[in-house]
Amino acid sequence: MIAPMTVSLGDVDWPVRTRRLVIRPAIDDDEEAMWSYRRLEATSTWLNTPHHDRAAFKAWFQDPVERANTLVIERSGVVIGNLLVRVEDAWSQTEVREQAAGTQAEIGWVLHPDHVGHGYATEAVREILRVCFDQLGLRRVVAGCFAANIASWRLMERVGMRREQHAVRDALHRSGEWMDGYGYALLADEWRAWAGQNSNTERPGS
Ligand SMILES: CC(C)(COP(=O)(O)OP(=O)(O)OC[C@H]1O[C@@H](n2cnc3c(N)ncnc32)[C@H](O)[C@@H]1OP(=O)(O)O)[C@@H](O)C(=O)NCCC(=O)NCCS
Repeated sequence: MIAPMTVSLGDVDWPVRTRRLVIRPAIDDDEEAMWSYRRLEATSTWLNTPHHDRAAFKAWFQDPVERANTLVIERSGVVIGNLLVRVEDAWSQTEVREQAAGTQAEIGWVLHPDHVGHGYATEAVREILRVCFDQLGLRRVVAGCFAANIASWRLMERVGMRREQHAVRDALHRSGEWMDGYGYALLADEWRAWAGQNSNTERPGS
């Protein structure tokens, strides 16, 4: 059987630019900048993998699978954060698995604490939604976080994502606490409908 064709970040004409930011795939030279904020407790407390150890961070940063899904956010030539965009298969029944392959993406975000509070994550994530829907042709974008990570779910709501799931004490934080989790999503047609009705203004979440 021929493997289904799926899109990837390599299909996008990088960099993409917003009013204040440049977004592009991470390169080897970004290691120091990303280490400078990913090692901080304020940042890593919500991340799946904490990066307190430089060697472990280097291994993560150089992992080709991680690298293929990692974008950096630059402001005036300085890396201020990074985004995850992981194209994945939607859930499907067995016979229609090929049609569901590579039709959605999970997205994620991290900003250097020095750069929170200015709307940079909102601006970057709005642009990444455009890339996912307009350029990659995906049909759904999803994101998740601990319910206690208020900054993260507020961001999801600012960019127009819909809370679809509130899981009760389903996720174990490294503190030892079982925490609630939120799942958010946005469909391409929802995003397009909003954009069509608001062509003179910004897209969802503005
Ligand atoms: C999640 C995270 C990226 C959110 O950062 P953020 O700075 O709150 O988000 P934005 O950059 O969009 O900025 C929004 C804030 O700036 C303010 N702001 C200022 N100018 C703004 C503008 N032009 N547009 C939008 N917001 C603006 C908003 O009011 C908001 O502040 P508020 O939350 O006090 O109301 C950041 O907290 C982070 O990196 N956390 C650690 C990593 C993490 O948790 N990752 C997610 C794991 S699931």
